[in-house]
Amino acid sequence: MSPHVLVFDSGIGGTSILQHLESKLPHAQFSYVMDNALLPYGLQSEAVIKSRLAALVTRIKELDLQVDLIVIACNTASTAALNATRQLTNIPIVGVVPAIKPGVLLSSSKHIALLATPATSSNAYTYGLIEEFAQNCKVDSHHSTVLVSLAEAAYWQQELDNNVVFAELQTLNIDQSVDVIVLGCTHFPILKAALASFYGSNVKLVDSGEAIARRVLSILAHPNNTQGSSEERIKKPLQFYATAPDKVRSDDRVILQLNLSY
Ligand code: SIN
Repeated sequence: MSPHVLVFDSGIGGTSILQHLESKLPHAQFSYVMDNALLPYGLQSEAVIKSRLAALVTRIKELDLQVDLIVIACNTASTAALNATRQLTNIPIVGVVPAIKPGVLLSSSKHIALLATPATSSNAYTYGLIEEFAQNCKVDSHHSTVLVSLAEAAYWQQELDNNVVFAELQTLNIDQSVDVIVLGCTHFPILKAALASFYGSNVKLVDSGEAIARRVLSILAHPNNTQGSSEERIKKPLQFYATAPDKVRSDDRVILQLNLSY
């Protein structure tokens, strides 16, 4: 049995979620779609992001990709368009949103920081999470688009100058009493080693990868949530799609073109 899971992000941030999915679901088939023509999503409007996800749902149908579950592995896209996208399809959709609740539970000082994109940190969905789960905890919101670009460069060019990351973190000026930083962008776990070295062991970095993989596993365990054909489906290697394959160079990946503009 090989369920087909499609992981979506603006860029390569979603690979930080894919990694957890691949280890929890070794028999699943994965497709990865990145809308890198519009990267970074953190600077896009909600209306644009909703229309790209609507186009994704249409393409899945048109191309008959036989997807059993979609993971919107992007905090910006999930907080902007998760509910609207769910209205458009019967395929189960798991969104990745800032891990405020686990962050609050892990904090001793009851002072945490959310590190996200500009769109995620100023979004009504995110305000709702803070209101619901951080009543007895102070949450400072910080955003960075530079960190998104650095994570992309670290992935594609295999180069990361920690000093450039440190310079950006310096400008964020996260308060000394913060003991938990919620990584509210799937690109940021790619920089985790640099972040951990900058903030030190007294600050915990929380991301959603493990929790998302558990959620996907539990949804796929339900027989109603996998297509009949998945029993006969042979697991294929990861299919990697981009809306602008020409913008990235990869020696070890075949990148297929997927158009999300209508
Ligand atoms: C971005 O494209 O700005 C980053 C996406 C995210 O929030 O994970």
